[in-house]
Amino acid sequence: MAFPSESFQIGSIVVQPPLVMAPLHEITDQPFRRMIREVGGVGLTVSEMISSEALVRHALKAKRMMAGEGERPYAMQLAGSHPEHLAECARKCEEAGADMVDLNMGCPASNVTKGGAGSALLRDIRLAEACVKAMVKAVKVPVTVKMRAGWDASQKDREDYRDFLKMFEDAGIQGLAIHPRTRVQQYEGHADWSLIARAVEVGTSFPIIGNGDVLEAEDAHRMVRETGCQGVMIGRGALYNPFLFRQVLDPGFQVTAEMRIDVTLRFFRLLLELLEEREALHKIKKIGAWFTKGIPGGAKFRQRLNERNDPFELIREIEALRHS
Ligand SMILES: Cc1cc2nc3c(=O)[nH]c(=O)nc-3n(C[C@H](O)[C@H](O)[C@H](O)COP(=O)(O)O)c2cc1C
Repeated sequence: MAFPSESFQIGSIVVQPPLVMAPLHEITDQPFRRMIREVGGVGLTVSEMISSEALVRHALKAKRMMAGEGERPYAMQLAGSHPEHLAECARKCEEAGADMVDLNMGCPASNVTKGGAGSALLRDIRLAEACVKAMVKAVKVPVTVKMRAGWDASQKDREDYRDFLKMFEDAGIQGLAIHPRTRVQQYEGHADWSLIARAVEVGTSFPIIGNGDVLEAEDAHRMVRETGCQGVMIGRGALYNPFLFRQVLDPGFQVTAEMRIDVTLRFFRLLLELLEEREALHKIKKIGAWFTKGIPGGAKFRQRLNERNDPFELIREIEALRHS
């Protein structure tokens, strides 16, 4: 079955196809996003969350996280809870070429929430409003938000997200991604898609992007059918299967072992091209191995991985899998 819609818009930015690669901290860096774009089927990529506090201090790592040359459209995501700093950082993102700037209202990690950022903003709607308004005022590009279902079950049951939808509308955001788990749930249990459906029913002026537990192509179709969301954001599903976006758009799309080998090699080479060798090796070991799942000889390759310290040797080993 073809995907129900071809595109959606965030302000004047057309997201086509209407599929978004979710931000994944320490995973969806520039080499990963470039690889996923080359595989195809993705209409929008998002940076990993960039700490606004680090960015105002000009921390090198935070600055490097902004890089996204050639990715269009490309959103940069900020995590913070200080309105003025967020405004300053939104401007930096715009200057650095972001097509839109997103505010993280979902991160459950305690090192983020203890400073009032990420999902902690869901517990303080007035502070969240000040943050969003400051960002909207600071930039011409669209400001979007990515949120969870609430801090805990009681906040979810009270349907506090409705107050947030109204606040976002008044503040002028132009897109909202919803991952309907609470902060307390972290990544446990299921994403409750009925909350996405209820948010869509409210009828916001901005598009709602559904997120959570899309692991197979059919899940994306089902999410749109069940919730009416305008866009679908995929995170973990794309780690094990970078072809997932293509399969959502074309359920007949077949992935061969050769294609998996090609994508693994391309990813390793992008890591080596765009990162320092030590960091590239770390990412090859941490992330690259996931793509070898399903390749004959892939399991043995993964067993040997930790003994290797030369990324070029790993490239040769992946090449050799073509003949196994
Ligand atoms: C390792 C990891 C890192 C993540 N980093 C971010 C992040 O930087 N910003 C963000 O908004 N969400 C982040 N998330 C949440 C995902 O974007 C997404 O909302 C969540 O994984 C649910 O979608 P999925 O079921 O398709 O993976 C992260 C999730 C994981 C598992």
